[in-house]
Amino acid sequence: MKIVTIIGARPQFIKASALSKLIKKQKKIKEIIIHTGQHYDYEMSNVFFKELNIPKPKYNLSIKSNYHGEMTSKMIMGIEKILIKEKPDYTLVYGDTNSTLAGALASKKLHIPVIHIESGLRSFNKKMPEEINRVLTDHCSDILFTPSKLADQNLKKEGITKNIINIGDVMYDLFKSVNSKIKKNKKVYDILVTIHRVENTNFKIKMLNIIKNLNKLSNNYSILFPLHPRTKNILKKNKILKLLNSKIKIVKPLSYKNTMYYLKYTNFLITDSGGMQKEAFFSKTQTLTIRDETEWKETIELGWNRLAKPVNDQIFIKTKKFMNYYGKIKNVYGNGSAAKLILKKLKYLNNH
Ligand code: UD1
Repeated sequence: MKIVTIIGARPQFIKASALSKLIKKQKKIKEIIIHTGQHYDYEMSNVFFKELNIPKPKYNLSIKSNYHGEMTSKMIMGIEKILIKEKPDYTLVYGDTNSTLAGALASKKLHIPVIHIESGLRSFNKKMPEEINRVLTDHCSDILFTPSKLADQNLKKEGITKNIINIGDVMYDLFKSVNSKIKKNKKVYDILVTIHRVENTNFKIKMLNIIKNLNKLSNNYSILFPLHPRTKNILKKNKILKLLNSKIKIVKPLSYKNTMYYLKYTNFLITDSGGMQKEAFFSKTQTLTIRDETEWKETIELGWNRLAKPVNDQIFIKTKKFMNYYGKIKNVYGNGSAAKLILKKLKYLNNH
C-alpha cells in the first residue's frame, strides 16, 4: 500500500510524528510525505522534524503566500502533479489548515481516496479559514478519523455517516511519550502566552487590548510570550510591539519539547491556538482562550478552559480568577493510542 501524506504547517508536523514513525517500521505500507512549505522558518518547521524524528519529506513545494486563495491553489497544482506521478492508494491529511484542504481537493478530484485525521471538529464560525478547511475536507474524505464523540456527532449532523472511526487524539500519543520525560531544568513562568489567529492578529484594536491586559498581568506574574511570525510582523507593522511591557519575556516560537516544558510548569496559558488548548488540558494547565468559540468544547465543560474576548479587562480578570482553579479529570480524547489504531485500519485496508 502506498500512502501520500500532506503536511505543511506546524501543528501537522506534531500530528504526523506518531503515525509516520509507526508506518516507517512497516514492510507492506509505504508513506511518501509532501511538505507544502506553508510554514518555512526554522522554528516553524525544521525544528519539529529534527526534534521529533519525523521522516524527511520526499517533496517540498515551498509555497509561501499571504493570500489564502493563492496559497491553496498553488498547493493544489503542486500536489496534483505529484499524485499523478506517485499514484498512491490513499492520500492522508491532518487537521484544518490550507495544506489540509489543498491535499484533500487535489486527491479527490483524481479519485484517490482521502483519509482525514482529526475529522469532525466544528467551531461553527465560517469566518475562520480553518472552519471552511475542516468542513470541505470532511465532505471529500473517505475515511474520517475523529478525536472525540462530539466530532462523530458533528459529522453525522452533516449527513456523513460512513467510515467514521473514533481513535482519540493523535496529539495525545506524542504528548504522553514526551511529557513523562520532562524534568525541571530551566526557568519557569507563571503565564505562557501564544497568539496567532487571524481573528485576533488582523485587528489592531484587539491586539492593543491583549497588550494592555498582558501588561497589567505582568505587574504580578512572570510571562513568557513566544511570538509567531505572523503576530510579530503585524505588531511591528502597526508599531505596537514596543508597547509590551519589558518585563514580558518575548522569544521566537518554541520547539515542541520546549512548549511541553513550559506548559508543564506554568500555572496558566493564554492562547488562541487550537492545539495548545488541548495540550494544556493534557498537561492539567488552566487555560484562557482568546476567541469567541472553540472546537474543543470538552476542555471548557470539564473546567480547564474558558473563552475571553479582547475587550476591557476580561483577559486580566479571568486570568486572575481561574489561575488556581482545578478542573474535572475525564478521558475525553482517547488514551494516546490513536496512531496504533490508524495503523490497524490501514493494515486492514491493505489486506482487503
Ligand atoms: C496556520 C493555519 C492555522 C494553524 C497555524 C499554526 C491556515 C489557514 N492556518 O496559520 O490553522 O493554527 O498555521 O501555526 O492554514 N510565516 C512566516 N514563517 C513561517 C510561517 C509563516 O513568516 O514559517 C508568516 C507568513 O509569511 C504569513 C503568516 O506568518 O504572513 C501566516 O502564516 P500562515 O501559514 O498563512 O498562517 P498561520 O497563522 O501560521
